[in-house]
Amino acid sequence: MSVFKIQGGQSLSGSVQVQGAKNSVLPILAATVLSTGVCVLHNCPRLTDVDHTLEILWHLGCKVKREGNTVTVDAAAPLNWDVPDPLMREMRSSVVFLGPILGRMGRAELSYPGGCELGPRPIDLHLSALRSLGAKIEERSGRLLCEGKLAGGDITLSLPSVGATENAMLAAVAAQGVTTITNAAREPEIVDLQNFLLTLGADVRGAGSSVIVIRGGKALHGGEYTLMADRIVAATYLSAVAAAGGEGQVTGIDWQHLSTVTAVLAEAGCRVESGERAITISAPAHLRAVRPIRTAPYPGFPTDAQAVVMAALCKAEGATVFAENIFDSRYRHVDELARMGADIRVEGKVAVVYGVDRLFGARVRATDLRGGAALAVAGLAAEGETVLSGLEHVFRGYSDLSGDLRALGAKIEQTEEIVNES
Ligand code: UD1
Repeated sequence: MSVFKIQGGQSLSGSVQVQGAKNSVLPILAATVLSTGVCVLHNCPRLTDVDHTLEILWHLGCKVKREGNTVTVDAAAPLNWDVPDPLMREMRSSVVFLGPILGRMGRAELSYPGGCELGPRPIDLHLSALRSLGAKIEERSGRLLCEGKLAGGDITLSLPSVGATENAMLAAVAAQGVTTITNAAREPEIVDLQNFLLTLGADVRGAGSSVIVIRGGKALHGGEYTLMADRIVAATYLSAVAAAGGEGQVTGIDWQHLSTVTAVLAEAGCRVESGERAITISAPAHLRAVRPIRTAPYPGFPTDAQAVVMAALCKAEGATVFAENIFDSRYRHVDELARMGADIRVEGKVAVVYGVDRLFGARVRATDLRGGAALAVAGLAAEGETVLSGLEHVFRGYSDLSGDLRALGAKIEQTEEIVNES
């Protein structure tokens, strides 16, 4: 199996261009189903989650081509309306196809996405949003059977779910009439989705605020679009420099998307300078603990950055409290960090990181995407060699984690090895 071998304990120096955003590319690829023209997407990262999404498009009957980081989707032909169970199981976020397939075909059949490594992942808000537009949805033997000619309507989300907002937007673009989504998620990836839909000729306004208004029912043409950079990948690389010490730069990124993360790293003692399309960080040899970090919907501190920032603070002087408010099982990296010498106590949604003087290289295993990246970050701060397995999780969201960290000066290689898991 593939593992990363990391020689830690050395400060970093370098610069890296940040890949396209995973959380933008998935809903944007799903949105191509609504167009009967050709969509050309640039800056699509090479991720297994993207491969699975392209497989779904192919199964639906789209012509799909990938050349480097550019993906072309032609959804002109009549499409299928079902996503087979194995493809749904590969990726929970495939549920974002429900709105566009139903909108385009008047019918959709998907399997019910179960829980995932982050705990239960309900889709009640997705379903009630689609019902508000006239969808009839039945659940039978784990399959979701949806049909109906959609019409614009008022959708009020009880919490600002990213996926439910995207599903509602995509269904509403196809629904005749005006849809208003209230308490919408405000994540930058929602703005990216709106910008892509505008390129195709849709009438969508308000993304980035809590109220999104869509005048639906217009036929969408094709278009060419460049995806935004991945703010969580950028947060990972900034955390890596903070953990190991030294200096680094991430480029191609909008600093405003990362301000809650950079504020924490600055409070920990790093010097952070944000330019127009780049962030530079300079980290001292020893960080200090920071005030409590509470994950929250955007523009709050992102749950996806919790693990990598926690890894950076394992050696900080003092204790840092984390409160994970978005997902139930998001501390699975803690036991692995403990193998490297970290002192972290978890009680429900709270974790307290007591800074230790040293971390030590160890054999550790990624149990989820961001947790895996966090172990690589900790490995850079640890003395000696860390061997990280479970890379299938990492490859879902990082197109070249080891190469990018090498560009920042890290000693990390991907090799094939038989790992003793006991
Ligand atoms: C998206 C991101 C994920 C990120 C998360 C929160 C993608 C592909 N994934 O996931 O990386 O961690 O946002 O920023 O973009 N909820 C319900 N009912 C629903 C839907 C959600 O109760 O129908 C709850 C969830 O259990 C969770 C919270 O709402 O507690 C937020 O989830 P949501 O914003 O929907 O996250 P995702 O879209 O799944």
